[in-house]
Amino acid sequence: MEFRDVIVKRQSIRKYTDQDIPKEDILKILDAGRIAPSGKNCQNWHFLVVTNKDLKEKIAKAITDKNEEISKKMDEKDPEKGNRFRKFVKNFTLFYLNAPVLIIIYATNYYPSGYYEMEFAGYPQEEMDKLFIPNPGMQNIGAAVQNMSLAAVDLGYGSCWMTGQNYAREEIEAVLKEEIGFEKEGYFLACMLSLGVPAPGNKSPGRKELSEITTFVE
Ligand SMILES: Cc1cc2nc3c(=O)[nH]c(=O)nc-3n(C[C@H](O)[C@H](O)[C@H](O)COP(=O)(O)O)c2cc1C
Repeated sequence: MEFRDVIVKRQSIRKYTDQDIPKEDILKILDAGRIAPSGKNCQNWHFLVVTNKDLKEKIAKAITDKNEEISKKMDEKDPEKGNRFRKFVKNFTLFYLNAPVLIIIYATNYYPSGYYEMEFAGYPQEEMDKLFIPNPGMQNIGAAVQNMSLAAVDLGYGSCWMTGQNYAREEIEAVLKEEIGFEKEGYFLACMLSLGVPAPGNKSPGRKELSEITTFVE
């Protein structure tokens, strides 16, 4: 596929057919993530590929339980808002159960040049936190996930990048540790990517005009 077509065709896919993805294609998609750029070439990612239905359901239960815990607390203040959050998890997270593949992306922190130097020089942590937040390591993760999303389109698949479940990060990590013994010292769950063959009916929102988001200095 032409490069521009891949970019334009990519959209978040939340409806999938029940067609599986052959392992060789999963590997090609992961490899696109592997070769993404990262600050200091630190490659601060780890891709956990879940195709096991039972494990996907256990992860969904951990998310649903946490969502319910938060929603109940919201109910006390405004039941309408609580219910909206309950609905949100169904529409914007649990759809991944219909995707044959779920890639869980773990990350470890990365600080660009200047951080350790300022730490060494004795700058107060508070000042550094202001400069180095949001965590610059997440930019590397973004590059890897975007590479995988585009590679998926090129191979005829679709994906959805998800951070909406991150409030249940600790619970998901606990499920992975308990069920498959997966644990990576110093790493944390950064996002997930569902993958599969798109079914009809996936919609995407429009975008701001270029003029609205660009400033030229000539
Ligand atoms: C960092 C990031 C996190 C996202 N998290 C979610 C999510 O948790 N659930 C979801 O359904 N979509 C999620 N999305 C998809 C966005 O909603 C989507 O990219 C945006 O609405 C534009 O639509 P499009 O991808 O179809 O072009 C996420 C996208 C990004 C880049």
